[in-house]
Amino acid sequence: MHYKELAIGIINVQMGENVTIVMPSNIYGCSIGNNTFVGPFVEIQKSVSIGDNCKVQSHSFICELVTIGDNCFIGHGVMFINDLFSNGGPAMGNKELWKSTQIGNNVSIGSNTTILPVNICSNVVIGAGAVVTKDITIPGTYVGNPAKLLKQNTK
Ligand SMILES: CC(C)(COP(=O)(O)OP(=O)(O)OC[C@H]1O[C@@H](n2cnc3c(N)ncnc32)[C@H](O)[C@@H]1OP(=O)(O)O)[C@@H](O)C(=O)NCCC(=O)NCCS
Repeated sequence: MHYKELAIGIINVQMGENVTIVMPSNIYGCSIGNNTFVGPFVEIQKSVSIGDNCKVQSHSFICELVTIGDNCFIGHGVMFINDLFSNGGPAMGNKELWKSTQIGNNVSIGSNTTILPVNICSNVVIGAGAVVTKDITIPGTYVGNPAKLLKQNTK
């Protein structure tokens, strides 16, 4: 039987101080800031940047072109997307079709959320199971599919 076996692990990662990564995880070509924790069964792809004091919980997928600020919480099984199938199917490596996502600081993303390519400002909470399809520019709590404002921050 012929098959290709690719190794997983921590490869070519620019690591801050006091970073914890629980294995098995597949993390390559990205940067992870100081005091950030990454739980097991996480994939973080190349060129991703994650700031300081973040927590990435198990089973999350953070794809190329995602940037995450400081003090962010990425819940369990959070899926980021960079390929919108804009030509009717997967871009199949045509990265010109991929789109980026920027997450500010102090953003908490509930478990099982899907984040399409968007910008999310600082001081935002996304409820569990949300699907974020549009930019979020007002600090507050957002829930549902498609995610809508539940309440604005009063602070
Ligand atoms: C979004 C969230 C922060 C809101 O918490 P809250 O402010 O205490 O909100 P409430 O529980 O008072 O709910 C307010 C309304 O939003 C709805 N709601 C709450 N969470 C929701 C969610 N994730 N998706 C859809 N609707 C939600 C409630 O049903 C309620 O609706 P109603 O007014 O029609 O009854 C919280 O429910 C949540 O999803 N947290 C994520 C937790 C998580 O994933 N942790 C990961 C580590 S375990």
